[in-house]
Amino acid sequence: QHGPAFDVNAMTLTRWVLAQQRTAPTATGDLTQLLNSIQTAVKAIQSAVRKAGIAKLHGISGDTNVQGEEVKKLDVLSNDLFINMLQSSFTTCLLVSEENPQVIQVETERRGKYIVCFDPLDGSSNIDCLVSVGSIFSIYKKQSAGEPSEADALRPGRELVAAGYALYGSATMMVLSLGFGKGVHGFMYDPSIGEFILTDPNMRIPDKGKIYSINEGYAAEWEEGLKRYVEEKKQPSVGKAYGARYVGSMVADVHRTIKYGGIFMYPATKAAPNGKLRLLYECNPMSFIVTEAGGLASTGKQPVLDLVPTSIHQRAPCFLGSKKDVEELLKYLN
Ligand code: AHG
Ligand code: MN
Ligand code: MN
Ligand code: MN
Repeated sequence: QHGPAFDVNAMTLTRWVLAQQRTAPTATGDLTQLLNSIQTAVKAIQSAVRKAGIAKLHGISGDTNVQGEEVKKLDVLSNDLFINMLQSSFTTCLLVSEENPQVIQVETERRGKYIVCFDPLDGSSNIDCLVSVGSIFSIYKKQSAGEPSEADALRPGRELVAAGYALYGSATMMVLSLGFGKGVHGFMYDPSIGEFILTDPNMRIPDKGKIYSINEGYAAEWEEGLKRYVEEKKQPSVGKAYGARYVGSMVADVHRTIKYGGIFMYPATKAAPNGKLRLLYECNPMSFIVTEAGGLASTGKQPVLDLVPTSIHQRAPCFLGSKKDVEELLKYLN
């Protein structure tokens, strides 16, 4: 007999993805292979994150990226892992990374039909103080014929075939959706067997929460409607005040919002008229997952997923979370 805690029939992420593939009669297995390559990158990143302080992986790389940010050593390592694993999966033709100024064209011999946009390490300002960080990815199928080019990645979030994120928090978790109507599923990493195990099938975001999440340091630069909304959360005319939580790693803030409910906001400011978060590899994948989990994601003017990108590193304001909370905010905006 096995002890009760040892599962001899665990639903691993690999097994789960394979099972999904088997339910789609026309599936080729390419998406399965692609997701396996991301899984490998994530396992390696989580290992690097966990031993970064000892392996001298903390601190800056010395470079600045296309967004003008100081690049950390772990940003570079994570980016290299994503690129190498995706290119060698033989399933991708075009990659968009936060850390690469231009799109990456996969060499002809290793090409497949998918386009992947990713933030290899999200929350890099939190690395050196051991606060949660993450990785984010979104997957399109190439629609055009011919050579893959930047235009193939400039598609609205509605057209994503899959999106997901990994959270390197107090535990490591991968959260994944394989499309609208297919649900959001969470897999906790079990380091003792090196596998992600399905722990959170069909994640649903509460209809309404009790937490607001925004960098309030920039309040002076917000539009009036947003100021009034946040004021109402702090000093409500009826009911109890909301709690405030802001990690400063989008993955951690959005994961908490999905689990506990509430609202996460990264608005436009006077200094940054489109906010800070990047549409292709931050706003879109997270909005895709929140929407699929029953929540809402808006730029303040339209659903995030309807925005048609015009450049790969473009930014967008992002308000996402519980349906009722986002609806309430939208009444205050404009
Ligand atoms: P990254 O580390 O990938 O560059 O992303 C940082 C982002 C995001 O994770 C977070 O929500 C936001 O920056 C925090 O920005 P502020 O410090 O301006 O609040
Ligand atoms: Mn960055
Ligand atoms: Mn990020
Ligand atoms: Mn990043």
